[in-house]
Amino acid sequence: MTKEKENAAIISQEEIAHGIYSMWIRTKAAETAEPGQFISMYTNDGSKLLPRPISICEIDKEKGALRVVYRVTGENTGTELFSQMGEGDTIPVIGPLGNGFPLEKALEKRAFLIGGGIGVPPILELAKQIGCEKKQIIVGYRNDETFLKTEFEQNGEVYISTEDGSAGTKGNVMDAIRENGLEADIIYACGPTPMLRAIKNYAEENGIECYISLEERMACGVGACLGCVTRTSMHWADAEKAGLPVQTCTSGPVFWAEDIDLKAGA
Ligand code: FES
Repeated sequence: MTKEKENAAIISQEEIAHGIYSMWIRTKAAETAEPGQFISMYTNDGSKLLPRPISICEIDKEKGALRVVYRVTGENTGTELFSQMGEGDTIPVIGPLGNGFPLEKALEKRAFLIGGGIGVPPILELAKQIGCEKKQIIVGYRNDETFLKTEFEQNGEVYISTEDGSAGTKGNVMDAIRENGLEADIIYACGPTPMLRAIKNYAEENGIECYISLEERMACGVGACLGCVTRTSMHWADAEKAGLPVQTCTSGPVFWAEDIDLKAGA
């Protein structure tokens, strides 16, 4: 289904960590949005035609509002232009896009909700909505700028890892899982590909059901750049497409981990 571009009003924006911005917008995308989905945001600069896909961090259906938390990726980028906007401005968006995390699979299970880097934000709405027996939120950061930590603590048990060891476990999210002796029956994760590859391997070795969001691979989010392909595994439901590339933005960004091939370079 093709969705139309909409001018969303910015309700508020603030920098919540170095180069990490939190923006609330009023949009009709909030009516149907689910955890794990994303919106594509356009700049008002005509030279930047392709939008930026940004994951949904929180959904407020009553207010018809969405929160996005994103990292500014450099000077003169679309995300830098977004960061300069504020209350009263409008921003063209399309959404919600992509599939969401399958929440119903977690019922009566011990779940890991894992986010790394700029894959941390979508874990918040997931943590708010998921119903499971045990909610263990494991989030990995570069340093002690542990954005969204307070919100996570209101929604489950929180374990933190930092690359420089300045908060929580020194290392990555897998190190935090091992150091704290955590166990799960189901895993939901979002973050950089090397982290997702490690989580997929861990899930396979331990026979744990696992869903991962590959949103970091996306560039435009609307099927226009072909920069987001990922290779399916031989488990892919449509046997004719098994082992072939699919677009992350239209087939994902959330996949059953066994459905995709994340081997180095894949
Ligand atoms: Fe551009 Fe998928 S992100 S085609």
